[in-house]
Amino acid sequence: MTALIETKDLTITFGGHTAVDSVTITVPEKKFKSIIGPNGAGKTTFFNLLSGQLSPTKGSIYYRGKDITRLSPTKRTREGIGRSFQITNVFPNLTVLENVRLAVQSQAGVRYQMLFHYKKYHDFEEKALEWLKLVLLDDKKDSLASNLAHGEKRKLEIAMLLALETELLLLDEPTAGMSLEEVPAILEVIKRIKEQGNRTIILIEHKMDMILDLSDSVMVLFNGRLLADGTPEEIMKNETVQSAYLGGVYE
Ligand SMILES: Nc1ncnc2c1ncn2[C@@H]1O[C@H](COP(=O)(O)OP(=O)(O)O)[C@@H](O)[C@H]1O
Ligand SMILES: [Mg+2]
Repeated sequence: MTALIETKDLTITFGGHTAVDSVTITVPEKKFKSIIGPNGAGKTTFFNLLSGQLSPTKGSIYYRGKDITRLSPTKRTREGIGRSFQITNVFPNLTVLENVRLAVQSQAGVRYQMLFHYKKYHDFEEKALEWLKLVLLDDKKDSLASNLAHGEKRKLEIAMLLALETELLLLDEPTAGMSLEEVPAILEVIKRIKEQGNRTIILIEHKMDMILDLSDSVMVLFNGRLLADGTPEEIMKNETVQSAYLGGVYE
């Protein structure tokens, strides 16, 4: 199996506090990996290191075997690393479809083109509609982004992330702040993306049933350290993980 992304001894220290501590992992192409661990374990910081928002104190990151440790976030997106909050241009006063169309155009690299060929415009819109269908938001295509419910906004963000067409998707607690009724729809959306089969996904989540349902492998972070890394079954029966973490938060 070809590794898509790898970290070697990845470490970051803020002041005296080591938030991510010598983490070495490999995520093979087209696989689904989840990250679990208590609040403050370093999960989001680990994503910030992968996406380039933060620079490590020590260690390296490789993408398709290439050292990307010092690449800017923009260059990493171009390499194929996508993270939803990198999309800063959600326009609240544009419709859902217009927002995704702009993401499609931006991916196609024609953001600054002055003359839009009608056919091209139509193609962008068609593509945008495909992404909206995949995330089950096509029924809201004509709503203003600002009028969406919380769960629908997360779907829009995911559609815009998909439109970047990066091979790697970093999803940081996509169900955070959602009402219980909204959670199954997000789970369904992530399943659909997985079933498309052309992406590698790393998901940070607290919902263990979701993790077990989706993951090929699970890594556990605890105080910045990699406590365990294995199949969902291995993680569930790992005694260190059980006493340190699962005992407390299994939902
Ligand atoms: N930019 C930063 N500066 C200083 N400390 C930070 C920064 N980002 C995160 N931390 C600290 O790193 C630790 C891990 O945080 P975080 O990665 O957000 O945890 P998690 O996502 O697992 O809840 C926390 O103690 C947090 O306060
Ligand atoms: Mg976090």
